[in-house]
Amino acid sequence: MVRFSIHASRRVSGRPFGTHLLLSKLARIPVRALDVGCGSGNLTSHLLELGFHVTSADLSPAFLCLVENVLGRRAGCECLPSTGKGWPGPDASFDFVATYFVLHHVPDYLGLVSEMVRATKPGGIVCVDHEASEGSWNPSPEYLKFKRQAEQAMPFDWSKLVDPMRYVSRFRKLFNPRYQAEGNIHVFPDDYIAWPRVRQTLQESGCEVVWEQDYLLFQRGYPEDLFEAYREQCADTHVLVAGKRAGAA
Ligand SMILES: C[S@@+](CC[C@H](N)C(=O)[O-])C[C@H]1O[C@@H](n2cnc3c(N)ncnc32)[C@H](O)[C@@H]1O
Repeated sequence: MVRFSIHASRRVSGRPFGTHLLLSKLARIPVRALDVGCGSGNLTSHLLELGFHVTSADLSPAFLCLVENVLGRRAGCECLPSTGKGWPGPDASFDFVATYFVLHHVPDYLGLVSEMVRATKPGGIVCVDHEASEGSWNPSPEYLKFKRQAEQAMPFDWSKLVDPMRYVSRFRKLFNPRYQAEGNIHVFPDDYIAWPRVRQTLQESGCEVVWEQDYLLFQRGYPEDLFEAYREQCADTHVLVAGKRAGAA
């Protein structure tokens, strides 16, 4: 059985980051990992640094091409065009299956979670990180105070004013308030994730939730001292880690 120790870290690559995954005891090396929705390869590159063999999957050919060019030449990295449903291959193929900042793009995100479990070997780990938490839909007074102060302290980006997309987006939002300039499918109002249902799906698919935590996400431009002053007082993001039971299919 493969065992991991996973803990929240304040900083990865000089930036506070939701989860820093640390390998403690491994009975099987190398670890085979699947990064679901790898985007530009942020999580993939951390996993490669840990010595994992990583399959990086994404719906977007452009992102996969980017990962292929930047990380694909590194040993242990392979890119896979995603069908949107997780992992098209056989059951129990990976020791570690993770998704970082992806679920809110996926209409059937519970289906994706089940597929992640299917792709995981018994005794392996499923990790879902960087998704909005209760604190972002029902913000506490401390969180609102933090956001207000952060906004006031962040310098205004004047280059936004000459970006034509700013005006196109505003115009489109008049007709569709849920329009996102990002172009991705944000499928829920406020990118809502029903965490109790994610937990239930994991449990029903043979996993046990071993660790979860709300945390305050560091965003580019936040003054660090302000962030430090509030990070223990409020949260807007969630991470959840589950272990697949040894006997699970
Ligand atoms: C915000 S980015 C994620 C960033 C990335 N995980 C990282 O570590 O920086 C969301 C990514 O999810 C991908 N995506 C959305 N739905 C997906 C799905 N059903 N299956 C795989 N990838 C998906 C998008 O193409 C996009 O690259």
